[in-house]
Formats: sequence, structure tokens, C-alpha cells
Amino acid sequence: MKESSRLTARQCLAQTSNGSQESTRPTSCSSKNDPRVYCLGAAGVEERDFCLGHQIIESELQSAMDALLNLRDVADADAGQCLALCLARLESANYVLTRFYEHMSPDLFGQFRVFYGKNPYKNTLGPSGRFSARIVAVSVLLIGEQLFHQKPQFYRDLYRLSEYYPQRCIREVFRWLSSDKGSAPLKPGWLEGKADFPRIATISPVMEHHGGEIGMLRTSCICARDRFTRMHRSTALKYTVEPGRPIVGVEVSENVEAVLSQRLLTEERR
Ligand code: HEM
Repeated sequence: MKESSRLTARQCLAQTSNGSQESTRPTSCSSKNDPRVYCLGAAGVEERDFCLGHQIIESELQSAMDALLNLRDVADADAGQCLALCLARLESANYVLTRFYEHMSPDLFGQFRVFYGKNPYKNTLGPSGRFSARIVAVSVLLIGEQLFHQKPQFYRDLYRLSEYYPQRCIREVFRWLSSDKGSAPLKPGWLEGKADFPRIATISPVMEHHGGEIGMLRTSCICARDRFTRMHRSTALKYTVEPGRPIVGVEVSENVEAVLSQRLLTEERR
């Protein structure tokens, strides 16, 4: 990619970033605007942009999550404003992810990706965007109940692999999904069919008081989230699965294709 367009990319990245505390990337991406990277030269620049892109996407997801929490938890919140803000942040995350898909060099990705593998001495999974707690939070807030009815495996995997997620954020989500707010059980009754899915964890109860335009705005947010998931699936296939690079965030018993479309709802039952 020409230096000029990368520069534009960086300026664009700078504009959208409002900084997130927890990134899903390994510690090497430690400092926010100047991540430490493993590689030098062109591979180092690409690796740095990979880290910054993840940080920016996480910060956009945080803003989308905050807007949805405001709508769910604040009695007189302006529903239109909350959903419009959520939509704008998700679109911005889609923009950065699309830049990955269109511009990241597969060769340079291959060079730095080797440093983000599984720990060879432990039988554990490696660093993966799969363990982005904010992706889970936005999905639960927007369509948590539909996801449970259509893709219960998503929740089973979430609780089974909870140790891999940033703990503060994922425990917050588990508290939303637990009937007793004090705790975050790792085997909630609803997951085993012993109780109803906790709709109050989502924005659905609030949305019942809104129709028309507000309802359309919510549908636009769901579509933006699905576009992110589909663009991500294409990115994962292009850069990791099709070139046969190691899959680090999926267990041997799992199917990577199924994992990559696990958070997608079927059209008619949105
Ligand atoms: C830019 C290049 C990216 C590539 C090549 C990529 C590749 C992959 C691959 C191969 C998987 C399967 C599990 C694994 O092996 O880790 C995966 C899963 C996943 N990644 Fe990424 N990823 C990228 C960026 C991101 C970003 C920026 C996020 C969001 C913060 C993200 C979130 C996820 C999620 C949530 C999953 C689980 C499947 C899903 O629910 O959609 N990934 N990714």
C-alpha cells in the first residue's frame, strides 16, 4: 500500500479513536497509540496498524455499548439518539474492518501473525478477536434473545470459554444475564432450559414502547452488526483460513466456519 494512502489510513484512524482500556490483542499491543510490535520494517508497520485497528474497533464497540446501555437503563433516555449513536459507531467499526480486508498485505500479515500463536507449552487457545467481550455485549444488548433461540451454541461456548475474555467486561455481561444481579453464575438456569432467557439484559423491553422510526433504527443497528460479522468472516477466510494459517481461537472439537457465522441470525427471524 502506497505510503500516502497508509498515512490517510492513520489520520482516519486517529480521528475515530477515543481509546479503549482493554484490547483483545496480546500484551505486545500495550501502549494505546504506540503499540510495541514484534516485527521491524514493513511488517512492523503493518503489525502496528493491525494493533491500532483492533484498538479503534474496540473503542467504537465501547461507544456503541454505552449508547445501548443508556437506552436500556436510563428511564428518560432519548431512544432515537441512543440508537443513532450506536449505528454511527458500528458503521465506523465496519469502516476500519473493511480497510483491513481491502488493504492489509497477506504476506506481511503472515510475517507478524506467527508471533500471535497458541502457547506451545500449554493446551490453551491463543489470542483471538473471538474473545472480544464488547462484541458479545453489543450482540446481547441488541439481539440477545433471538441469538439464544437461534444460536444457543453461541452462549454455551461463551460460558465454556469465559476465561479467555477480558474478565471485567465479560463478568458485567454475565451479571446482566443472571437472575440474581449479585453473582454471574457460569451455568445459568436459562442456558439449561430451566428458566426463561433474561430479556431485561437486552433493549427489547424498552423497544416495546417504541415503533415506527425507532424500530427502524434498531433494525439498522442489527444490520450494521451483521455486516461487521460478515465482513469479519470474509477477512478471516482471506487472511487465515484459506491460506491455511493456524487457527488459534477455536478448539479442535469446533468447526471454524461454524464459529465465524455463530453470531449471525437467519433473515426471517430477526
Ligand atoms: C483484521 C484481521 C482479522 C483476522 C484475519 C481475523 C481472523 C479471525 C479468525 C481466523 C477467527 C477464528 C478463530 C481464531 O482462529 O482466532 C476469528 C474469530 C473472531 N474474530 Fe477475528 N480476525 C480479525 C479481526 C478481528 C477484529 C478487529 C475483531 C473485533 C474486535 C474480531 C473479532 C472476532 C470474533 C468475535 C471472532 C469469533 C467469530 C465471530 O463471532 O464472528 N476479529 N477471527
